[in-house]
Amino acid sequence: MNASSDQSSASGNFDKPEFPEFDPLTPDHIRDPWPLLARARKEQPVFWMPKLQMYCITKHSDVRIIHSDAETFTNGGANLMRVPLPEGIDIPEGCPFPSVGESLANADGAAHLRLRKLMQGAFSRSRVAQFSSQIEEIAHELIDAFADRGSADLVEEFSNKIAMQTIAAVLGFKKSDTDSFRAWTDQFLNLMGSPEMGEDEARELWTGLIDWWTQIDALVKSRRKEPGDDLISDLIAANPGDGIEPLSDAEIAANVIAFIVAGTDTTAILITQTVRRLHIEGMWDAVVQDRAQLDNVMEESLRFCGVVRGLNRVVAKDTELSGVKIPKGSVLYWMGSAANRDKEVFDEPEKFNPARPSLHEHVAFSGGRHFCIGAPLARLESKIAFNALFDRLPHLTVPDQEFELYPNFITPTPKRLLVEWDVTKS
Ligand code: HEM
Repeated sequence: MNASSDQSSASGNFDKPEFPEFDPLTPDHIRDPWPLLARARKEQPVFWMPKLQMYCITKHSDVRIIHSDAETFTNGGANLMRVPLPEGIDIPEGCPFPSVGESLANADGAAHLRLRKLMQGAFSRSRVAQFSSQIEEIAHELIDAFADRGSADLVEEFSNKIAMQTIAAVLGFKKSDTDSFRAWTDQFLNLMGSPEMGEDEARELWTGLIDWWTQIDALVKSRRKEPGDDLISDLIAANPGDGIEPLSDAEIAANVIAFIVAGTDTTAILITQTVRRLHIEGMWDAVVQDRAQLDNVMEESLRFCGVVRGLNRVVAKDTELSGVKIPKGSVLYWMGSAANRDKEVFDEPEKFNPARPSLHEHVAFSGGRHFCIGAPLARLESKIAFNALFDRLPHLTVPDQEFELYPNFITPTPKRLLVEWDVTKS
């Protein structure tokens, strides 16, 4: 821990204590940040990260404060495209780029409440449950492609595909539309997270992203003319009354991009990490035999696996967390994954224990107004994915192997997970 360096401003003195041992982007800390984060929670639970120019927040109680006070801890400006749009690229009418548009994750206050009211119904547990058989079909079709082989890379051949195809199917895209979704999602995330890229690459990525937006906008417009049984049609039809203005095509298109970006890697990580964890803990066979345990396993996996390591908020007024004075305008990196290992809330936090009494105290889906709107879909889809694997490949094993994650301080995706099974038994 470094001595805190004070920073003065017109409105007072602020603290910038550092905890230089922790860098959320180094491969070691991506792979296993937990011991260091446990020390940080004890010694310096709120610290300044000079490289990222953000305060890191690690305690469950501080994360809860951030979630419950949306006036002080705001989302507007927290998720920006950080690569400028090169000159000479035409933006189609209605397209919000280079801004990411009025999406849920970027809106605050009344604008955010309006969007939530208009979108909640489409993502409710009962509505997404109507897509169960479609998601089951996707899961079984993916397994069909490798079941006879005796081994597969679970990440590429199952988790990533089921996540992408599910979100595309519930929104109303054809399966063939999804071929480029992976590349476009990566482009979107790179334009947000790799500000130092060269002009040629920036041009290529922005052009690709505009093509994606054009395809999404065309689907929204076609559903407005001819509604289908899908969530884009639900969003077009949403009209909660109370003078709330229905969603425009541009708002729907901006949010559809956000749903795809937010709903793909996250769910894929949960599926891969849970399969691996069940084997590490020697629990796979027991859960295959007794599916009633699955809900608790999933919640504990959400707590334990750090699907979303951390996200940002912008501080709208001078504030204080764990005794650290933070000035207005600061960017916070609130680490739900660190909060989920806080021993003040979770007994023996480093143990994977689906029977723990505090199971539902995790903040893996955030909390407060911005609580993940896709949580019911993520839970449904993951459960269908696990049951399909249990039914089709009950003897699946995870051999010893290097398990590497891509260096991403928001959602570190596994590179691969080799799984094997005896085709004569399964
Ligand atoms: C295991 C899977 C998932 C995890 C762990 C997860 C986690 C999160 C987290 C931590 C937030 C943060 C909100 C904040 O800023 O406080 C969030 C927001 C959000 N998630 Fe998810 N998510 C998952 C799946 C999905 C899916 C499948 C969708 C598809 C629609 C989705 C859509 C969204 C959206 C639109 C928001 C913004 C909500 C708002 O700001 O009001 N997520 N999610």
